[in-house]
Amino acid sequence: MSPVNPEQQFLQACLVAIQQQQLERIIFSQYKGSIENLEKMTVRLIELQNVATLNCLYRYKTQDVTKNYPLGEAEGVLTELLADCKQANLFTLDGETQLKKNKKKAMLTQSKAKPVLKAQPQGHDRAKQRFVDQDSQFLQHLGITDAKAQVIPSMARKWKQINKFVEIFAGALEQIDTTQALHVVDFGSGKGYLTTALYDYTAKSLQTPFVTGVELNPKMVEFCQNVATQSGFEQLGFFQGDVRTYAPEKLDVMIALHACDVATDFAIHSGIRLNAQVIMCAPCCHKELRPQLHSPKVLQPMLQFGIHAGQQAEMLTDTIRALLLKAYGYETKVFEFVALEHTSKNKMILATKRQDFTAPDQAVLAQIQALKQMYGIQKHSLELLLNDQWDQQDIGRKC
Ligand SMILES: C[S@@+](CC[C@H](N)C(=O)[O-])C[C@H]1O[C@@H](n2cnc3c(N)ncnc32)[C@H](O)[C@@H]1O
Repeated sequence: MSPVNPEQQFLQACLVAIQQQQLERIIFSQYKGSIENLEKMTVRLIELQNVATLNCLYRYKTQDVTKNYPLGEAEGVLTELLADCKQANLFTLDGETQLKKNKKKAMLTQSKAKPVLKAQPQGHDRAKQRFVDQDSQFLQHLGITDAKAQVIPSMARKWKQINKFVEIFAGALEQIDTTQALHVVDFGSGKGYLTTALYDYTAKSLQTPFVTGVELNPKMVEFCQNVATQSGFEQLGFFQGDVRTYAPEKLDVMIALHACDVATDFAIHSGIRLNAQVIMCAPCCHKELRPQLHSPKVLQPMLQFGIHAGQQAEMLTDTIRALLLKAYGYETKVFEFVALEHTSKNKMILATKRQDFTAPDQAVLAQIQALKQMYGIQKHSLELLLNDQWDQQDIGRKC
């Protein structure tokens, strides 16, 4: 039977768009129902454990709440939302359908997508925006976007980094078992931009994770905790303390982005020790190896230039980190995670645990010894930590 009124026609169009995988989003606005402070809802299709699922973002005055529904419940969920809203807009690859209701009647209008919009789903920028929704309230609480959800110009580079980071994080999650509750720790979380974004992403696409940011600076911890509360992110918390003494009980995903100097080594060590499935770090300053470096004779003409010696020390520090990860059973990649214009510290080490790991790979450990010998390296914190040889007195050293 064909739909008889505009509301039913709209509902039918939504269900067809969902069934044919043509749905971009449905926005329900001018909410008049009984839930306090609820303003609008955005519905999208997402993949959850390889199953198409209805994702509904409920926007309240000060926070966003996400719920996922099986496709079998789509009709019931959409019918309920329609009943309580005076306006609904359906966006598909073909165009937009708008339903507007007032006391007397409901009206349906349709417009075709402009060619440029139609082409967007394959577009580069569009793919990026899938990971972090610019409309999200938490971005406003963090000071990335303004009240109109526009990116604040001075935060444009951070915004780019956040998107890129969440994209890489999402790719890494696809390679691991995410059916159990995920424990994520962000070591050296700073103002929590990335910590909060990955919480938002994970909570929207999987079951809500337990995410902890670890940060020395109490003011930053207070700021982040406020953002988490304002955003309604109940399983996101911040611990004020030193990465070098923080000992979580569970760790599935270890993140350390631009954590200073050897804080990165302590974070990687926690990841390896607790058998983290994903280890993701972008190293920051590299102070440990440079004073130890004795250039091999043949390299001295090259390394007489300070900048080259610095780059060499950095490359060696990160090579040893990446090789140790490999030796301890991780598939390890080292790459630039964002263009240089967005941050000069753009190197990422991404490691995922191999399921067949049994014991450290002696051949890789031998490669590390050969490199250390060639450059006269005595001490690399991650190696010492893994060998249980790290000197407790070093904790007094400033990061
Ligand atoms: C460059 S910021 C990076 C912040 C954040 N990860 C990001 O990428 O936006 C480094 C942060 O690490 C913190 N940090 C440095 N050493 C630390 C340590 N030993 N324990 C905890 N936090 C530390 C600093 O206070 C700073 O906020």
